[in-house]
Parts: sequence; C-alpha cells; structure tokens
Amino acid sequence: MEKALKYSFESACEREGSNAEKYVLREALFGTKDVLPAWVADMDIDTPQCVLDAVKERLKHPVMGYEEVPASAFMAQIDWMKKEHGVDFSLEDMLYSHSVVASMHTAIEAFSKEGEGVIVQTPVYPPFFHSVLKLNRKLVKNSLLRDAEGKYRFDIKDLQEKIDENTKLLLLCSPHNPVGRVWEKEELEEILTICAERNIVVFADEIHSDLVYSPHKHIPFTSLGENAKNITVTAIGVGKTFNMAGFAMSSVAITNKELREKFFKAYERVHFAQGSSLSHVAFETAYKEGKAWLEALKVHLYKNYKMLETLTKKYPQFLKITPIEATYLAWLDCRAMGLKDKALRSFFINEAKLGLNPGISFGREGSGFMRLNFACSSAKMLKIVQRLENALQRRQLG
Ligand SMILES: Cc1ncc(COP(=O)(O)O)c(C=O)c1O
Repeated sequence: MEKALKYSFESACEREGSNAEKYVLREALFGTKDVLPAWVADMDIDTPQCVLDAVKERLKHPVMGYEEVPASAFMAQIDWMKKEHGVDFSLEDMLYSHSVVASMHTAIEAFSKEGEGVIVQTPVYPPFFHSVLKLNRKLVKNSLLRDAEGKYRFDIKDLQEKIDENTKLLLLCSPHNPVGRVWEKEELEEILTICAERNIVVFADEIHSDLVYSPHKHIPFTSLGENAKNITVTAIGVGKTFNMAGFAMSSVAITNKELREKFFKAYERVHFAQGSSLSHVAFETAYKEGKAWLEALKVHLYKNYKMLETLTKKYPQFLKITPIEATYLAWLDCRAMGLKDKALRSFFINEAKLGLNPGISFGREGSGFMRLNFACSSAKMLKIVQRLENALQRRQLG
C-alpha cells in the first residue's frame, strides 16, 4: 500500500517537444503526427526521482571534465546482479558501454571474421540481424517455434543442423524482445550444451532481465556453470529497467579472461569513451536506490498488459496477444484480420491512429504481427486501448 502511494504511474510528464525519439520520428515513420506513438522501447514514464535528484546533486559541482567509471558504480551493479539474479561478477569482469547494440557489434568483431556465421533467433529486435549483415558476417537464422497458445521456444534441431565449423557466435536475446519469453533453465542448458561443444561464443543480451513478471525468473546465461562462464559475454544495463536510455550507459560482463581480452581488443579499436559525469551517478543511484520504484513499476506495467489482453479477448476474430513473461512489449498476433503487412500497418496508423512496430521488421516470422509498447501512464494506456477498440468495432461493423 505504501509503495503504491509513493509511486504513482497514473499520469506522466508529456514527452512531446522533449526531443523524444518516439515523437521526433513520428511523422517520418508513420507519415502523420496524428498517431499515438507506442513503438521505440523506452517508457513514457518518468525516470525514478532518486536518479533525477542524484543528477541535480552532481550538477552542484561545476566541472564536467573527463571521468572514469567509478568502481562504486560497477559495484552497485554487481550487488544488484547478485541480489536480483544470483549471479557473481567481479569488478575486473566489467566494462563500460554506451549501448548494448554497440557491445553486440564489438562482440561480432571480436569473435568472428567476415564471412563467418553468427546465429540469430528470429523474430528478434532488428539490430540483431542488422549488426550481423552490416559487419559482413553470415546470418545463420534459427527461427523460434510458436505453439498453438502463442508460446515461443527454441528450435534445437534446426540449430544443430545449421551450425558448421564456420559458425562462431550466437546472439541470445534473454528475455526475448519481441516474443516476451523468459527462457527456462532447461531451455538455456540446451543452447549451452550445443555452444560449448561447438566452440561458439554466446553474446547474451540481458537488457530486459529486470522486467520479468512473477512467477517467471530470469536466469543469466553465464550462471549456468563453468562451461557457460567460459563462453559468455553478458550485456546488461539500466536503459530499460529504469527508463534511462538517454544516459547512454550500460555494461558488458565477461568472466573468462581470454574472452575478455579478445573483446577488449575489438573494444579498443573503436575507442569507447567512459560514460559521462551525469551517467555515472545516475547509473549507481538507480541500482542502489531504485528497487522499490521498479517493483511498483512492474505492477503497473502488468496492469497495462492486462488491459490490452482484455481488449484482445473481446475481439478474438481479429487479435490474439502473445502471453507475456517479461518486457513491456506486447506481441500482437493480427493474422486473423487477413491483412497483408502493408495493409495491417495502415490499419494501425489510419484506423487506430497508433504508431506501432510492424512485426515484419523483426524478421519474416513476424509477418501478420504488430509490437505494441505498453510502458506508459494509465492515462495514455486508456487512450491506446480506446483507439484500438474503436477501430476494431468499425472493422466488425464492416
Ligand atoms: C533486446 C534489446 N537489446 C538492446 C536494446 C538497445 O539497447 P541500447 O540502447 O543500450 O543499445 C534494446 C532496445 O530496445 C533491446 O530491446
């Protein structure tokens, strides 16, 4: 009760006019300003007050010169990872990164050469396959399987068949964007067995690991044992958890020394900076003081998800929602509407007046799906649901 009173997500600060990508690119992407944006994966929710206060405090010191990431910032993250996810990292495992996607590019450079194979499990957040293609590696597509209830699983047989001596790296999305899965231990162990046997490094993008709904539990890939530690590069950060993408600070944790040194060589080639005076304090404070906010946020996000689920249940002839275990991204199965991808996108823009990500942009397995970001205030969520319901009603009436 106290928590609910302390953190309210009923309304949030207006982002339009604040240089928010979600709004700045709205017209270019959707061809109109007349859509409520629910696409790029940040939240239309205020960043925790403790973080904003810490930044204000830092600004009392008038010098913004070069800084190193303070050990205390990484220690705060290490403590968080231990308490929240039961994984042990030490200070020497940690490297700063301004972006998880940049870390992914660095891992591809570090552990594969041009023409060599990198495995991607589609549908998936587009930079997974864009990074492989941009760096001239061979894209090894291991599509996920979807069952009748809409639950996705790894296709282990296909993975085994696709790997050859040229395959060097697997990009794991855990929890998975956009299908919302929290991979279970047994599922991850199957991936581990194959990758350890075939000498394949696993880049575990665990940026969504703190946004997991009970009873699901995130299992860091590296925590699966010694074999896992020896082949895993973990990317984690505050961007999603505390809505802090604008601070551009995340980290890479690599326990195995040889792997770390290889990664570091590629890292040095592009000269990563060391964060900023403000991101250091924001990052440390979020991990030290943000837990209660996060718990309240997850309750709120799940309520938003339920609103959307209720709507889809009213219109099963058009929509099905993929059961969510993590993230604030709903994966809507719209195939029953019988629309081609272009027409489906147009329905959401012109009829529902909503700006969503077309499923097809996550790989061809996403054809007929749309991704809806429901991380917003209750007030905005109500508008989203109302707009969608109006459009569905009109469609029903013919
Ligand atoms: C799975 C995943 N990885 C990485 C990112 C982006 O991370 P960053 O902004 O740190 O590059 C996102 C953002 O949506 C994501 O969903």
